[in-house]
Amino acid sequence: MKLFEKLTHVQKHRSMLYADGEKTVRDFLEEVFPGRRDLMIIECGTNKGVSASIFSQYGHVITVDIERQSDIEETIEAAGGVRQRILTNIYPERSARMMYLDGSTSAPFDLGFEDASHFLPDIQDNFQYLKRCGLVLFHDYDGSQPGVTTFLDRLSETDHVIRRGVFGVWIKKNHPFALKLFGDDACLKN
Ligand SMILES: C[S@@+](CC[C@H](N)C(=O)[O-])C[C@H]1O[C@@H](n2cnc3c(N)ncnc32)[C@H](O)[C@@H]1O
Repeated sequence: MKLFEKLTHVQKHRSMLYADGEKTVRDFLEEVFPGRRDLMIIECGTNKGVSASIFSQYGHVITVDIERQSDIEETIEAAGGVRQRILTNIYPERSARMMYLDGSTSAPFDLGFEDASHFLPDIQDNFQYLKRCGLVLFHDYDGSQPGVTTFLDRLSETDHVIRRGVFGVWIKKNHPFALKLFGDDACLKN
């Protein structure tokens, strides 16, 4: 791909997916993990790898999707992703996907990222594993995706859930970020 085509390609996908979201993700990572470039992140919903490219600039990212996009390599390159820090996995079958998420999240991750199907049952499926990270970022918590809204609004009744731009963030009780935000109240939920 020529440079101009690459730039057009990434602009198109960035504006489609992250319009003002990329800055929010970067600000959020700096807020929670200032200066860190060694993070371990697990993402559900790879698509063309725009978000994975952002995360790869802060550490390593493992992604899971149900199908591979043909131009993912070009997008990662054009988006400034660090290719060798992105491990993509494709699991079309739910049972294999759940088994993979179960196995991989038994290792410690700093952050889970949910940006997959946006249907409530799929979000619940993925969250049961992503929550082991202690911190999960959800795209589309802006009213545009009823599944995401319902899931996080329900969760916020018992757990720490905050907003950052178009993202929702679930934080485990007593997580260092919960302690920073809520002090003594960090132990009150979940
Ligand atoms: C909104 S896109 C993700 C965008 C991606 N985060 C990016 O920045 O390029 C949603 C992706 O989730 C995938 N997907 C749908 N259902 C899924 C599931 N149950 N688990 C994982 N991925 C899923 C779709 O194939 C699609 O590629």
